[in-house]
Amino acid sequence: MIDRREPLEVRYGPWAVVTGASEGIGKSFAAALAQQGFHLVLVARRSHLLDALAASLAQAHGTQCDVLTADLSTAEGVAEVLDRTARHDVGLVVCAAGFGTAGRFLEGDVGEELDMLRVNCGASTALSWGFGRRFESRGRGGLILLSSIVAFQGVPRSAHYAATKSYVQTLAEGLRVEWADRGIDVLAVAPGPVATGFAGRAGLTMGRAESPEVVAAESLKALGRRGTVRPGLLAKVLGYSLAMTPRWGRIRIMAMVMRGMTKHHAA
Ligand SMILES: NC(=O)c1ccc[n+]([C@@H]2O[C@H](COP(=O)([O-])OP(=O)(O)OC[C@H]3O[C@@H](n4cnc5c(N)ncnc54)[C@H](OP(=O)(O)O)[C@@H]3O)[C@@H](O)[C@H]2O)c1
Repeated sequence: MIDRREPLEVRYGPWAVVTGASEGIGKSFAAALAQQGFHLVLVARRSHLLDALAASLAQAHGTQCDVLTADLSTAEGVAEVLDRTARHDVGLVVCAAGFGTAGRFLEGDVGEELDMLRVNCGASTALSWGFGRRFESRGRGGLILLSSIVAFQGVPRSAHYAATKSYVQTLAEGLRVEWADRGIDVLAVAPGPVATGFAGRAGLTMGRAESPEVVAAESLKALGRRGTVRPGLLAKVLGYSLAMTPRWGRIRIMAMVMRGMTKHHAA
């Protein structure tokens, strides 16, 4: 029986894997988990950023960090994460690696769209399966998947990114119930806009945005208690007000929002 009052490191530890740890939300999860006493496997492509993070966490908290440079749009990259973590007793996995695209679907690059599908959905699925089996045999574990506020309806001008997030949201909801009697907690994190490298990468202009530290802190509090968290005030206000609107209405609202956020594409 899992005791929800226990510190996370005692409940799931001693090792956690964080993908997308070089920047943004993943980096904030890594910092929060190091502070809570986890040892970490930090995964992303930019090794110099991972090395710098590992050094600062070792100095601040005495964290043991393994830096794992892997491209999660490839099957080899995902397999490497599973292989190279086998020697650690991993109890918590945060799949924060991901990116978005914005603008009209037909004006985008289909190769980039398929890369996004592989990172956001393919890698999250393969890691959920691989670590889920390990968690099942050790009788406990925690899995955090990065969904989004855009996961709950179609989003014109970010149609495929929103589709990848619907996939992740649905996967997390199903696994949470399927694994509940195995001692494995699953959480979908559905943030609104967050101030990270995401907007620049997607070519979006964001107005107000939440800090990635708030996203990590609220998510870790919600793990094991809820199935989905909308971290930060902005995500709650946007999420709950949209939730009152029928799906067709939400799609139209998102079309207006995205028109504003991608206005510069037409210029
Ligand atoms: N920011 C937002 O407004 C927002 C809102 C809702 C949901 N989210 C979700 O939150 C997650 C994290 O995004 P973020 O805001 O933290 O963005 P970010 O600051 O751009 O960070 C993205 C992270 O993903 C890694 N990554 C991207 N492609 C990768 C690949 N092929 N292989 C390995 N790692 C890869 C990046 O590392 P490298 O480039 O070093 O590989 C980086 O560490 C994403 O799933 C995103 O969909 C973000």
